[in-house]
Amino acid sequence: MERGKGMKILSIESSCDETAAAVVEDGRKVLSSVVASQVEEHRLYGGVVPEIASRRHAESVSSVVREALLQANLSLADIDAIAVTFAPGLIGALLVGVNFAKGLSLATGKPLVPVHHLRSHIAANYISHQDLKPPFLCLVVSGGHSHIVEVTDYTKMRVIGATRDDAAGEAFDKAARTMGMPYPGGIELDKVAEQGNDKAYVLPHPTVAGSVYDFSFSGLKTAVINLLHNAEQKGEEICKEDLCASFRRAVVECLTDNLFKAAEDLGVKTIVAAGGVSANRLLRRELERICGEKGYSLYVPELSLCGDNAAMVGAQGYYEFLSGNIAQTDLNAVATLPIDYR
Ligand code: KG4
Ligand code: ZN
Repeated sequence: MERGKGMKILSIESSCDETAAAVVEDGRKVLSSVVASQVEEHRLYGGVVPEIASRRHAESVSSVVREALLQANLSLADIDAIAVTFAPGLIGALLVGVNFAKGLSLATGKPLVPVHHLRSHIAANYISHQDLKPPFLCLVVSGGHSHIVEVTDYTKMRVIGATRDDAAGEAFDKAARTMGMPYPGGIELDKVAEQGNDKAYVLPHPTVAGSVYDFSFSGLKTAVINLLHNAEQKGEEICKEDLCASFRRAVVECLTDNLFKAAEDLGVKTIVAAGGVSANRLLRRELERICGEKGYSLYVPELSLCGDNAAMVGAQGYYEFLSGNIAQTDLNAVATLPIDYR
């Protein structure tokens, strides 16, 4: 086939608790996207149990891939390349997708494209916004990562700021858990916060001395735990809606303060958000408000592409392929890998 024209990529994602497969054309057009979530099972344990995640991926990867081909009305012969999330994530979970993709690549002779999970979260925006092209500044906020990334090209990026402890999604989930909400509590906390007064409780806005773009969320989470314990000891009532709203406001302000400081310092006028936490209602409203005030362009993924899925892997996989990032059959999964690894 002519390189880069009508190129169909079959993509696989298994970095955490979603087994997903998709077919994406030229990095922008989703022909099919299938996500099998394990969240109900992990909820029983209050978080993702890595071994259970690996086992469920192993059980469902084959049928999820078959379903993605079926929904796209294609067979393996119609596919031009196979993209797979190889890092970062739960190692046992990643290995299932990587090995399955390697097997497919070996059996079909199609090129194997390794995709970095956070790069794929950013690429969800290429599907939601056909006009979006680098350069831009991206806030990548997921369950495991909180980064400010300068994306200079599709496969060229530089980390401007990162969390020193908990990720934003992790902070949301932990705070929600202390308030008795089921995993992953971030989603529920966001919903409950809509009914609350975000000025009711005064919470810290932790900063990192000497690193103006870095985040620190563990102190904020501890402040919520202390507040709940103190109230319990004194026999005082806590208004859950108000505490959720105050906590959400504090997290979002930490994120937006650093993001827009970086945008100003770097002179970047296009802002992008990515990752599970980019579904947060207040974050989306605040990004819109601030970008409107400053005259910046804003891109956020459609809600269905904020969380883990394989369509975003197919989108980034296309650009990785064009940049010559092709793996051999000795490709391994990597639990921790910086977004600017290459
Ligand atoms: O990107 P993602 O699906 O998986 C990782 O790569 O980690 O992100 C999952 C995280 C979870 O911590 C979840 O609670 C959080 O994103 N999240 C939210 C919302 N929706 C998902 N956090 C706050 N508000 C939301 N609406
Ligand atoms: Zn993710």
